[in-house]
Amino acid sequence: MAGTFITFEGPDGAGKTSVLAALMPKLQAHLAKPVRLTREPGGAKLSEAIRELILDPANTEMDARTEALLYAASRRQHLAEVIRPALEAGEVVICDRFVDSSVAYQGAGRQIGEDAVLAMNQFATEGLTPVRTLYLDVPSQVGLARIEAHRQDRQYDRLDRESIAFHQRVRGAYLRLAEREPERIVTIDATKPLAQVVSDCLGTLHTVLSASWLA
Ligand code: TMP
Repeated sequence: MAGTFITFEGPDGAGKTSVLAALMPKLQAHLAKPVRLTREPGGAKLSEAIRELILDPANTEMDARTEALLYAASRRQHLAEVIRPALEAGEVVICDRFVDSSVAYQGAGRQIGEDAVLAMNQFATEGLTPVRTLYLDVPSQVGLARIEAHRQDRQYDRLDRESIAFHQRVRGAYLRLAEREPERIVTIDATKPLAQVVSDCLGTLHTVLSASWLA
């Protein structure tokens, strides 16, 4: 495909939202072609409706495999409707979370199996894989403390409410993925100040997008 597919990943409280908000205008200023920011779960009408369903704290009865299937269904629609057409049109697509999130949260966090979740997602994505993934790493205690500190500013969802053990399994899975796929996954230390994290991300993106980078 003509475009470039890049994802951002990280445990809850890694600061992805703040980093992407600060990063996007800087990135666009360096590129002559359009950069599209999108997110999962969500990014398309049906996918956003599934997001509401999954994250609603009232849905306590949701089975772990149901949750994994809903994330994959949301992803499929987002890919078919938004990501693939944008890549075919030559855009740079930055996606806030993708398949690695399901492997980490459902596979390891919910303990339904990282390989099984990956296989199910390969069906959903037909194997579409990002060329680079920026993994914003924070220890679970740091991430959870940040969520607690910002509880008034953002929705406190069903997954934020999980135990520290759940969040530690999620981070463990991300670290294993990064070790297994060092060419694709770049680990960024997200305990650093925001400006430094943004600058580290920009440095990594420069290496991926060097061909279309304006000075
Ligand atoms: P967000 O906080 O980055 O918007 O993500 C919402 C929550 O959804 C977050 O706790 C991570 C979780 N999640 C999964 O559990 N599996 C997935 O596949 C995705 C995309 C997100």
